[in-house]
Amino acid sequence: MDDPKHAQDPYPLYGKFRQECPLGWAEGHGGYWVLSRYDDIRFVYDNPEIFSSHPNGIPANLGQDRPMIPLEIDPPDHAYYRRILAPLFGPGRINPLEDQLRALVTELIDDFIEKGSCEFVAELANPFPTRAFLSLMGWPLEDAPMFLQWADDIIRGVPGDPEASMARRAESGLALYTYFAEIVDTRTEQRGDDLVSALLDASFAGERKLSQFEVLDIVFLLLIAGLDTTKSVLSNGIAWLAEHPEERQKLIDDPSTIPLAIEELMRWESPIIPGRRVTREVEMHGTTLREGDRVMLLTGATGRDSTQFENADTVILDRHPNHHLAFGAGAHRCLGSHLARLELRIVFEEIHRRMPDYRVPDGEQIVRHLGGVRGVDHLPLVFTPGTT
Ligand code: HEM
Repeated sequence: MDDPKHAQDPYPLYGKFRQECPLGWAEGHGGYWVLSRYDDIRFVYDNPEIFSSHPNGIPANLGQDRPMIPLEIDPPDHAYYRRILAPLFGPGRINPLEDQLRALVTELIDDFIEKGSCEFVAELANPFPTRAFLSLMGWPLEDAPMFLQWADDIIRGVPGDPEASMARRAESGLALYTYFAEIVDTRTEQRGDDLVSALLDASFAGERKLSQFEVLDIVFLLLIAGLDTTKSVLSNGIAWLAEHPEERQKLIDDPSTIPLAIEELMRWESPIIPGRRVTREVEMHGTTLREGDRVMLLTGATGRDSTQFENADTVILDRHPNHHLAFGAGAHRCLGSHLARLELRIVFEEIHRRMPDYRVPDGEQIVRHLGGVRGVDHLPLVFTPGTT
C-alpha cells in the first residue's frame, strides 16, 4: 500500500481491499490489520472498549510524550474532555469567526488574483488553516509560517526515512510544546480574550477544571488535527472541481449548494486514516484479532462502499443525506467539524466568486500523496485575472 504508484489514485486498490480482503495484514511499522468496509470501520468506531484510541496513529508517535487529549483518551475518561470542549467548538463560538476567516482568505487570494495563476496548495490550502488556527486561538498571525513548518515536520516527518522522521517529529514537537507552554504560563497568570484562557476557565457542571498540562496537550492536538486535514480536503476538492468544469458551474450558479458539495467531496476523498489498538480478543471476518494488535481504519475506502452509498462511484454534488465517515464517528467524531466546514465553505465561496474559470494549465499535472492524510502536493491553476 506504501507503493507510490497508488498515490495518484488509490481507489481501485481500496475497492479490491473492500471486496476481496476486508481484513488485510500489512507488514510495515511492526505489522497491523487494515479494515476498509464502511460497516467494519463503523463497528470499530462504535466499540472503543475493544478498540482503544491510544495510540491513534500508525506509526504511533507524533512527537508528543503523553496521549493526545482527547484523541487518545478512551471512554469513560474521554467524556469529561468532550463535555468541556464541546461548547468551545460549537456553532455559537465558531460562527462569529466567519468575517475574520473570510478576511484571511481574501488576503491570500488578493496576493495572486491579478496574476491569473496560482499554485493552490502553497498559496491557499496550506497557509489558510494555520491562519484560521491562530484566529481560533486568538493569537497574532506573524508566527503563522513557523507553525506551518513545525506542523509539517510533525505530520509528514522526513518522507521515506522513518528514523529521521522520528527525530524531526520529536524536535518540532518539543519546539511547539515550548511555544505553547509559554502562552499557557502567561495566561495562567493573567487571562486574556483567547481560547487558552477559555480552556483554563472552562468547567462543566462543577466538575474539576483542566490542568495546565491538559490545556497544553489539547492545544497541541488542535494544531495537529486542524491543519493538514483541512488543507487536504480543500485541495482534494478544488482538484476535482478543476477537472470537472460542468459540475463546478453548479456551484458558481448557486453558491447555496456549496455546503452539500463539500460533504460529497469529503465522501469522495475521506483523507484521514486513524488507527486503533485491540484491547481484547475479537473475531472479524473469521480471524481472531488479539490484544495489542494494531488496526488501520482505511476511511478513504468507506466513501465508495456501494453497500452504503447509491452510485458510490459517481460524485453527486447535491447528494443528501450523506453519512460519510470523513469526520470519523462515535465518541471521537471530529471536534473541529464546525470550524472545518466554515473554513471550507468560505474558501469555496470566495474561489468560485473571484476566479470561477480556474483550470489546470495544459502540460501541468496534479501531484497527489497517500500517507497518513491523503492530499495534494501540487495543484497549479490558471484563471482569468481579476482585480476584486
Ligand atoms: C476537513 C477537515 C477535518 C477532517 C477531515 C477531520 C477529521 C477528523 C477525524 C476522522 C477524526 C477522528 C479521529 C479518530 O477517531 O481517531 C477527528 C478528530 C478530531 N478533530 Fe478533526 N478533522 C478536520 C478538521 C479539524 C479541525 C479544523 C480541528 C480543530 C481545530 C479538528 C479537531 C479535532 C479533534 C480535537 C479531534 C479529536 C476528537 C476526540 O478525540 O474526541 N479537526 N477529525
